Amino acid sequence: MTKIMNMSENEIVDSIQSGKLHVCVIGVGRIGLPTAISFANSGITTIGVDINSELVNSINSGDFPLKDEPGYDVLFDKVIKEGKLRATTKIEEALIHCDVVLLSLPTPMNESHIPDYSTLKSVGNQLHDFLVPGSIVIVESTVEPGFIENELISTIEGNDGKLKAGKSFGIGVVPETANPGQILNDFERLPRLVGATNDKSADIITKIYKHVFTVDLIPMPDCKTANAVKLTTNVFRDLNIAFVNELSLIFERIGIDVMKVLEAAKTKYNFQVHYPGAGVGGPCLPINSYQFINLAKNTGFETLKIVDIERKINESMPQHTIDLLVEAFKEAGKSITNSTVTILGISYKPDIKDIQLSPAEQVINNLKNLNAKIRIYDPYFKNTEVFGLKTEDDYISAITDSDAIILITSHKEFHDLEPTFLRSKLSSGIVIDSRCTIDQHAAKKAGLIYRGIGRGHD
Ligand SMILES: NC(=O)c1ccc[n+]([C@@H]2O[C@H](COP(=O)([O-])OP(=O)(O)OC[C@H]3O[C@@H](n4cnc5c(N)ncnc54)[C@H](O)[C@@H]3O)[C@@H](O)[C@H]2O)c1
Repeated sequence: MTKIMNMSENEIVDSIQSGKLHVCVIGVGRIGLPTAISFANSGITTIGVDINSELVNSINSGDFPLKDEPGYDVLFDKVIKEGKLRATTKIEEALIHCDVVLLSLPTPMNESHIPDYSTLKSVGNQLHDFLVPGSIVIVESTVEPGFIENELISTIEGNDGKLKAGKSFGIGVVPETANPGQILNDFERLPRLVGATNDKSADIITKIYKHVFTVDLIPMPDCKTANAVKLTTNVFRDLNIAFVNELSLIFERIGIDVMKVLEAAKTKYNFQVHYPGAGVGGPCLPINSYQFINLAKNTGFETLKIVDIERKINESMPQHTIDLLVEAFKEAGKSITNSTVTILGISYKPDIKDIQLSPAEQVINNLKNLNAKIRIYDPYFKNTEVFGLKTEDDYISAITDSDAIILITSHKEFHDLEPTFLRSKLSSGIVIDSRCTIDQHAAKKAGLIYRGIGRGHD
């Protein structure tokens, strides 16, 4: 059967619109599964490939694994019932039937903060072995500019002359920009970038994505520019968070409430508000900053100075959170040793079940070093084990007779914490609010010892 890169213009349009096109999404995790569902929902026969056999079984048995992604549960049921989506652990079986191969694979970093592209490279080797000539490969994973051109293409091509980018297979990127917890919403409103190694690949990718999504597609001159845009938007956020975090440290000392500053500052049309916190986690922002730093180093720069400093500031925030706790215990005239401290929220961001690189881990480790007894309550991680500790399954029992709470993640459940109720439950009445969630005046009025990041007080 003729594969998409060898089709005429009319055949391409027909194969997309008639649903004859077969798409394979390799890596059906947080981003890949919603993507695969969207493709299947547009009428395209889609197969997900993943090394996680439990995940594959759950998809094939109709059990939607991403409970914290509103809207996709319904679409998932629909495409599974229609037989438009299935999953497998066998990449070779999937590739035989597909014209289009999407890569939504993890791009983490190692402990020395060096970006780790080993999964993409190992799948690149498998593509060399099993990709059918005439197919197109689209990388949605976040990679640093140049990775596709300098590393992935040669990995897929190999040395035996079997595959040649631009001739026997197409390759391009559509970097993923959605936010966990609101992926459906983002897929329906955020423009997507399209970069490719030649015009034909760019044209095919654009036709396919136009069929699946309704958002604007922004043509990029090449893959590396598209990847640079993706990193720039995320590192912009990491930088701005570092800026408000650093300001917060100063405001705390001179009696200024950072929330009063930000609420007023955001009335200026060209100010984009970012909020302080106990740190920046997740699979994107911290890693993306290090991807840029890595790119700078590989380009002959010592580092990317501003990003380097930004990372140091954001990575110091878990310890600063502990410093506030130590200060509060001092005010209470009590010792942290053997005290009980309850952590509220461990996800790296509100209202999702994800603890990847969450600052909660560092806060908890630093607390362990102070020999405090730690309780954890997070509505997304009830009655399980996280960071070596058993989590609580009930908010009230998690705070009852605890000396202190540290609010790390501003999940909806924590938006209306009632100061007088907290005072009645906490034996030492200490509240550390890393997300500016609690009204500090009400907290003090209720007799709590309150400390918040950036919440200077008189
Ligand atoms: N999660 C986000 O917020 C987000 C947002 C935008 C972009 N991204 C980027 O998207 C990419 C994917 O991230 P994610 O959050 O979906 O990751 P994820 O860990 O949730 O999903 C990745 C999936 O790939 C599978 N996998 C790993 N190795 C494999 C292999 N060799 N073959 C087949 N499957 C394999 C894993 O089992 C997992 O299911 C990353 O580059 C990330 O930076 C993520």
